[in-house]
Amino acid sequence: MEFKNLGGTGLKISNISLGTMAFGRWIDEQASHEIMDVALEQGINLIDTANFYGKGQDEAFKYGTGECEEIVGRYLKGKRNTAVLATKVGLPMGEGQNDKGLSRHHIIQQAEESLRRLQTDWIDLYQVHRFDDSTPLEETLSALTDLVRQGKVRYIGCSNYAAWQMAKARGISDLKGLEHFASSQSQYNLLSRELENEVMPYCASEKMGLLVYSPMARGVLSGKYKSKSDMPKDSRAAKGEELIQHYFTDSNFRKVEAYKGLLGDQGYELSQFALAWTLNQPAVTSAIVGASKPHHVLDAAEISGWKWTEGLKTQVSNI
Ligand SMILES: NC(=O)c1ccc[n+]([C@@H]2O[C@H](COP(=O)([O-])OP(=O)(O)OC[C@H]3O[C@@H](n4cnc5c(N)ncnc54)[C@H](OP(=O)(O)O)[C@@H]3O)[C@@H](O)[C@H]2O)c1
Repeated sequence: MEFKNLGGTGLKISNISLGTMAFGRWIDEQASHEIMDVALEQGINLIDTANFYGKGQDEAFKYGTGECEEIVGRYLKGKRNTAVLATKVGLPMGEGQNDKGLSRHHIIQQAEESLRRLQTDWIDLYQVHRFDDSTPLEETLSALTDLVRQGKVRYIGCSNYAAWQMAKARGISDLKGLEHFASSQSQYNLLSRELENEVMPYCASEKMGLLVYSPMARGVLSGKYKSKSDMPKDSRAAKGEELIQHYFTDSNFRKVEAYKGLLGDQGYELSQFALAWTLNQPAVTSAIVGASKPHHVLDAAEISGWKWTEGLKTQVSNI
């Protein structure tokens, strides 16, 4: 397993991280624990979760109910130091006006709830899930800074922020002596490359860690979907994931076939090829993989050190 520093910090992160978004939703507790076992055995050290993950992601629920953090917490009990634990705050956790967003009220209340569900005294990386334009950034950064100073949080990060939002936060932190975001978490894969325009150059220039999520486009880059109507029984799309639908376009299906063509006889799976491509972008610190089976983790770990040739990079750019 390869490791990188998380941005400008001294914290070492495996270049592949384990995403837990499906734990407690489609993946039961025992299967979740098996996946985490394999991840830690393979040297993956960052586990990414969120207060919102679990059944609350389903349409029938309107807010998060915390099952995923509870599953991760029970798993890490007695071996907390084996993982760098990242969680998030900001998405709705109740019906009330103050049960969401990035106010001081909600951040402090949810940090306490996450610590309880995760059965730990500290969160390694506490991330704001998405920008909240109804709360002053200074209020958010000041609440996060208090959590760091109390020893409940070690590093803070943002997720789904535009570059200007990160730049604004950086300026406020500098001016007011508050904690800086150490990392940004955003979607990035061969079918979704918007990050290259602003966020990647910003993170590289400011030495911010970049954690990329959905490196396999929620499974589309494994090649398991041939068309909108052809969904393997056990797949996330068949289980009703809505967000994967955005990837189901004729142009994406054509690209997936073209990427398959580049694999040739290299002996790798398309999912590994897609993951390795993200890892070969210098600005990327770690790709967060959403394994739903233990062997997905093994596939990912196998290509942690795959260095791409310039020729392969050019071929991919031409698709
Ligand atoms: N900050 C945010 O807003 C945000 C948003 C989304 C995700 N995330 C984080 O990123 C993590 C990963 O997201 P993601 O699940 O969308 O990532 P992903 O890695 O792009 O997709 C995971 C899916 O790809 C398929 N897959 C993975 N490895 C495979 C392999 N070796 N062979 C065949 N298929 C394979 C599986 O699909 P099947 O289950 O269908 O087999 C799996 O569920 C989440 O768990 C979460 O921690 C964060």
